[in-house]
Amino acid sequence: MTGRRATGSLSERKATCRAGSNIAFIKYWGVADGAEDLNIPLNNSISMTLADAHTTTTVAWNDSACLPGDTVVIDGVQLEGAPAERVVAHLDRLRALAGVSDRARVVSNNNFPMASGIASSASGFAALTVAGAAALGLRLDATRLSAVARQGSGSASRSLFGGFVEWEQGWEREVSVSNSLLDSRSVAHQIHDDEHWALRDVIAIVSTGAKRVSSSGGHRLAATSPFSAARTASVGAWLDTVRRAIAARDFSLLGPVLEADALAMHAVMMTSAPSLLYWQPGTLEVLQAVRAWREEEGVPVYFTIDAGPNVHLMCEADAAAEVERRVGALPAVQRVLTSGPGTGPQLLDGHLF
Ligand code: PMV
Repeated sequence: MTGRRATGSLSERKATCRAGSNIAFIKYWGVADGAEDLNIPLNNSISMTLADAHTTTTVAWNDSACLPGDTVVIDGVQLEGAPAERVVAHLDRLRALAGVSDRARVVSNNNFPMASGIASSASGFAALTVAGAAALGLRLDATRLSAVARQGSGSASRSLFGGFVEWEQGWEREVSVSNSLLDSRSVAHQIHDDEHWALRDVIAIVSTGAKRVSSSGGHRLAATSPFSAARTASVGAWLDTVRRAIAARDFSLLGPVLEADALAMHAVMMTSAPSLLYWQPGTLEVLQAVRAWREEEGVPVYFTIDAGPNVHLMCEADAAAEVERRVGALPAVQRVLTSGPGTGPQLLDGHLF
């Protein structure tokens, strides 16, 4: 992260941050019993921070006499209801840390469609945490910011770092969970920087509609699936394989595990009560195509899927143009967005208002 650049008049303190989304190789799906509000995950997860799918957020804090309440505008639309409350709850965390009652004006832009399986909550809560804390003059390192961001959205804890990142579950070794905002047991750390391995996430967008059940709702349902315990029992070995594959830049070791955990997570989603079915017909069309290209034509590409219908095709940089060409030609695919690994959050000099 770059140095603090909060600007504004005496009564208004403002900062702007751009944070990358991330794509998980081993997923976060399900929160630990008794720690639902803290987003303590069932298992460690590993992701790649994305350079080209990001959120830019400006936060301006004003004395509560100047602003009657918080306002949040994302991609030009003012948030209301539950989505607004979720952001206000995060602003409350920052207010509590700084010991202030100031109100915030938040304006945020994504360069990709929100709520469709590209993790806008990861980049969104990372950018909100960094900009909000900087504008309040809070001096927190990336680990502490990761703990705060986690409480807004679990996957946001990983977007506090660039490159290849692991989020430690961190809790099972402890007898009781502390509700301190800065409790930094369950936080992310960088395992390799963004220059370590030129992987590409070729995102096949088959639907841009908002999903009906947000991932934050889904995490609480995971425990109702009979397959959740089976998945977490497998994850330890998968994490180990993914760590080794990334360290050795071994794509043929990484790929099968990516698919295995994405499918295991979706099996948990489909079999929770109520059942969550994020896939659309286009999702399956892309999955079948990826398997056929790889198995019949030797194209080195594997898929992963988040909580939405869109498919992330992972490949190395030298295969990206071929994968983009093939996936862009599928009838179900509306748009293709490609990203390599990116850096951690950056504070910017230019503000959105
Ligand atoms: O951070 P959340 O609550 O949006 O959860 C993200 C969950 C997945 O994207 C499906 C998996 C992951 O680890 O990113």
